[in-house]
Amino acid sequence: MILVTGGAGFIGANFVLDWLARNDEPVINLDKLTYAGNMETLASLKEDPRHIFVKGDIGDSALVADLLARHQPRAVINFAAESHVDRSISSPEDFIQTNIVGTFRLLEAVRGYWGGLSGGTRDGFRFVHVSTDEVYGSLASADPAFTESHRYEPNSPYSASKAASDHLVRAYRHTYGLPVLTTNCSNNYGPYHFPEKLIPLMIINALAGKPLPVYGDGMQVRDWLYVKDHCSAIRSVLEAGGPGEVYNVGGWNEKPNIEIVQTICALLDEFRPRADGKSYREQISYVKDRPGHDRRYAIDASKIQRELGWKPVETFETGIRKTVQWYLANPEWVSHVQSGAYREWVQTQYADTAAA
Ligand code: NAD
Ligand code: DAU
Repeated sequence: MILVTGGAGFIGANFVLDWLARNDEPVINLDKLTYAGNMETLASLKEDPRHIFVKGDIGDSALVADLLARHQPRAVINFAAESHVDRSISSPEDFIQTNIVGTFRLLEAVRGYWGGLSGGTRDGFRFVHVSTDEVYGSLASADPAFTESHRYEPNSPYSASKAASDHLVRAYRHTYGLPVLTTNCSNNYGPYHFPEKLIPLMIINALAGKPLPVYGDGMQVRDWLYVKDHCSAIRSVLEAGGPGEVYNVGGWNEKPNIEIVQTICALLDEFRPRADGKSYREQISYVKDRPGHDRRYAIDASKIQRELGWKPVETFETGIRKTVQWYLANPEWVSHVQSGAYREWVQTQYADTAAA
C-alpha cells in the first residue's frame, strides 16, 4: 500500500483516481480538507475498500506515525500543501505552517518509520516529494529552460515555502540516507482544478458572464501540463527514479497567459456560444498585476525523458479541449465548490482590480 498526502486536492485526487483505476494496490489518503480539499472529487471511491481516507494534518506527528505503523506503506507521496500564489501574498502564515513545518514533521515521522524497517522493505521504501518549478524563480524571455541544477531563487511566499520544503527533503537524504525523490513540475490543468487558478477561473467566469481578469499585460509565460501527465510522471519516478534524485516535469508547452485565455474563449465560442452571438473575448479585462509576479517559467524535462522514458501524452490543444469539456459536463461539481468561503476570497482578491 502507499500513503498519499493531500489526495483530496486537485493533483492528489487525480493521482489517487488514476492509481486505483490502474491497479489494486490500496491507498491511504491523508488530507486536512482545507478549502482546497474536496471529497466530492473522490465520490466514486466512497465504498471502495482500496481507498482509506483519513482527515488530518501532515504536521500531526502522532497521527502520521500511527498511520505508518499500522499500514506499513511501501511509499509516501507528499502532495499536501498550500498551493495558491495569490493567497500566499495576502496571508502567508498557512504556507509556512503546512509547506515548511508540515513537511518537516512528515519527514521526521517517515524517518522514524523507515529506521525501523529492514531488508528489502527498507531498501524498497520511497518518499516522493511533489514540488514546483516556481522554486527556480523567474526567467527572461531568451533564458534557457530550468534544468534540475538551476539555482533556487523563489520570489513569492508560496515558492519560498516550497523551496524550504525541497531543501529539507534533500537534507534528509544527505544526512539520514532517507530514500527521497523530488519532482519540480510546471503549471497543471485539467479536471477537478479549484477555480481560484487561472484556467478554471476563466472558464467559470466566462460562462457566468463575468469579467475575465488578466493580471498586468497578460504576457507572463507558464509551461502548461495536463494533470494526468503529471500523475504518470510521478508514477514513473516512484517506480524507477533513483533515491536522492530530482526530476523536472513539464509539458514543453510555454504560452503567455493572454493566449491561454483567448484559447478558452474560442473553445467556449465553439461549445457553448453566447446568447448574444458575441465572443467570450469581449469579457477579457486587464486588471492590476500580482505583486512580484514572475514573468516566465519554462521546464527542461529532458532528464525524466532520458532516464525514465517519461513524456507527456497530451498536447495543449488536446488537453485544453478535454478540460473545457469537463467543466461544461460537471456544473454540479463547480457549483458545490463555489462555497461561501470561495465567494469571500473572490470578493477580496478582485475587489480593487477595476480594469487597468
Ligand atoms: P491543492 O491546493 O489543489 O490541494 C492541496 C491539498 O492538500 C488539499 O486537498 C488540502 O486539503 C491538502 N492540505 C493542505 N494542507 C494540508 C495539511 N497540513 N495536511 C494535510 N493535507 C493538507 O494543490 P494542488 O494544485 O493539487 O498541488 C498539489 C501539490 O503539487 C502541491 O504540493 C503543489 O505545490 C504541487 N504543484 C502544483 C502544481 C499546480 O499547477 N497545481 C504544479 C506543480 C506542483
Ligand atoms: O508553476 C507551477 C505552479 O503553478 C504551482 O506550483 C502552483 O501551485 C500553481 O497554483 C501554479 O501557480 P501560478 O501562480 O502560475 O498559477 P495561477 O493559476 O494562479 O496563475 C497562472 C498565471 O495566470 C499567472 O501568471 C497569474 C495569472 N493569472 C492568474 C489568475 C488567478 C491572471 O492573469 N489572472 C487571474 O485571475
